[in-house]
Amino acid sequence: MDKLVVRGGNRLSGRVIASGSKNSSLPVIAATLLTGDGRFTLHRIPDLQDIRTFSGLLDHLGTETSFSGNTLMISTKNVENLLAPYELVKKMRASIYVLGPLLARFGEARVSLPGGCAFGPRPIDLHLMAMERLGAEITIESGFIKAKAKNGKLQGGRIDFPISSVGATGNAVMAAALADGTTTICNAAPEPEIETLCRFLTAMGARITGIGTTELVIEGVERLSAVEFTNVFDRIEAATLLAAAAITGGTITIDGVEPNQLLSVLKKFTHAGCSISLSGGSVTLASPEKLIATNITAKPYPSFPTDMQAQWTALMTQAEGISRITDKVYHERFNHIPELNRLGAHIDIVKNQAVVHGPMKLSGTKVMSTDLRASACLVLAGLVAEGVTEVLRVYHLDRGYEQIEMKLAHLGADISREKYQEFS
Ligand code: UD1
Repeated sequence: MDKLVVRGGNRLSGRVIASGSKNSSLPVIAATLLTGDGRFTLHRIPDLQDIRTFSGLLDHLGTETSFSGNTLMISTKNVENLLAPYELVKKMRASIYVLGPLLARFGEARVSLPGGCAFGPRPIDLHLMAMERLGAEITIESGFIKAKAKNGKLQGGRIDFPISSVGATGNAVMAAALADGTTTICNAAPEPEIETLCRFLTAMGARITGIGTTELVIEGVERLSAVEFTNVFDRIEAATLLAAAAITGGTITIDGVEPNQLLSVLKKFTHAGCSISLSGGSVTLASPEKLIATNITAKPYPSFPTDMQAQWTALMTQAEGISRITDKVYHERFNHIPELNRLGAHIDIVKNQAVVHGPMKLSGTKVMSTDLRASACLVLAGLVAEGVTEVLRVYHLDRGYEQIEMKLAHLGADISREKYQEFS
């Protein structure tokens, strides 16, 4: 297995280019299943384990994918297999994204119930509810979702989501794109990743209004076609790199971003005492002498993202005062706290709130986490910890950060990847 070895204490400086968004690539890749017409060319797709796992799932269904640089080519002409097996789906929850497009194009699909990141209960009831609203009959049999459109074709309908769900909104929009008639999605997730998916579908020929809002109206069309498309930047990667600069007292610039997608996070960096300057598609963060404790509450977009909550917690271990971290999306997403405390942080969990007492001197040791963003938080802590921090099981990090150690090393961090053997 791989581990990252971080020697803390270097201030980050310089500039890097943001990678393409993982969480918008996944639904965009899934949406290619909606047509058998032509060949897709997708640019700015990050070369990540999750993308390769998902492309592997599509290839299992019958697509032909090839990845070169950050361009993914997909031909969906020969899709014939409508079954997404457990062996592939268990590797990532986002595999559920194939349900909507398969059902819309072929009138049926069988998808194994997903596995994935381990924080709190992560149901898929809203995905299934949305498909049922569009006329699908759903049964769960032997660990599989069996979905069939009545009379072989989905029908437009009204989908009212009781809570905001990125994945269920994505599945619903893809399914509605080819349904007969009009679909209205109320309380749709307005996240930039869904906006990107909608723009991709529109380029393919879908008719969608309300893009970027919480009410989407989709007028189903007969057919969609393959296109060339460029993905957006990864807002979580960018925010993580800014936090890396801030935790080391550094100054960095990230190019290739759309700052308006980062507003909630940039506002918090400002509260924490950082100076932020924007110029076109670039954002620069300059650290203060002392960071100020700043509370956050993770909520759906445009609020502070849950996927940045763990990294913010790491940052706050170096801030003056007490900061409170609440996550309203995943109430129990605190796997990283015991590991941060092992590095010397003083964080209590009180009634689903992490209370960070800062600033604390961290000292390096071996740490490990069970999910992607928690691993990123441990790397950030390692950047400021005294001595050597070894972040084990880097495969979690590799699921979502493209060349993270290279980017951090380019900014001046002392970080390297090494092999190790885990003893059970
Ligand atoms: C996506 C992101 C993930 C991020 C999350 C929230 C991808 C691949 N993953 O995950 O990184 O942390 O958005 O921004 O894009 N829920 C239900 N029933 C459902 C679906 C969701 O109750 O059927 C709940 C979840 O438990 C959670 C909330 O809805 O409390 C939001 O989850 P959701 O937006 O669906 O997350 P994902 O799309 O899985």
